[in-house]
Amino acid sequence: MKPVYVLNGPNLGRLGRREPEVYGTGTYDNLVAAVEAAGADCGLAVEVRQTDDEATLIGWLHEAAESASGVVLNPAAFTHYSYAVRDAAAMLGVPLVEVHLSNIAAREEFRRHSVISGVAAGVVSGFGFDSYALALRALQTLLGDTHA
Ligand code: DQA
Repeated sequence: MKPVYVLNGPNLGRLGRREPEVYGTGTYDNLVAAVEAAGADCGLAVEVRQTDDEATLIGWLHEAAESASGVVLNPAAFTHYSYAVRDAAAMLGVPLVEVHLSNIAAREEFRRHSVISGVAAGVVSGFGFDSYALALRALQTLLGDTHA
């Protein structure tokens, strides 16, 4: 079975130290452990990555088209303006679930719009680390028997 790529955009490597009142006190390493445990619960192999670089994230989405069964993507700030990430997501050919730790609909005006959502199978936003677990559950259902 191909793994699910769980891709994280800029500044998420700073979790724990970054605005803990918004994003919680769990570190990025804690997030990776939580996502790996949630993947195991769903019977999905996960490959978790983080980058601050837009080109690297786009390269990983290109790679996912060949090598992943599905993608969980937290595009971080790219959510709100990166048409290049959106275009890479649009050409994936495997299901993508967009996730956010915070509820972007309840935050500043500029965060309320996602340029990614229109090419995602769905969005999970506002549940902290659980957003990723819920996204993996959704992918498990979407993939059905076709990911073997
Ligand atoms: C985020 C929300 C974005 O607005 C922000 O730029 C992030 C994190 C979230 O997970 O809540 O970096 O994607």
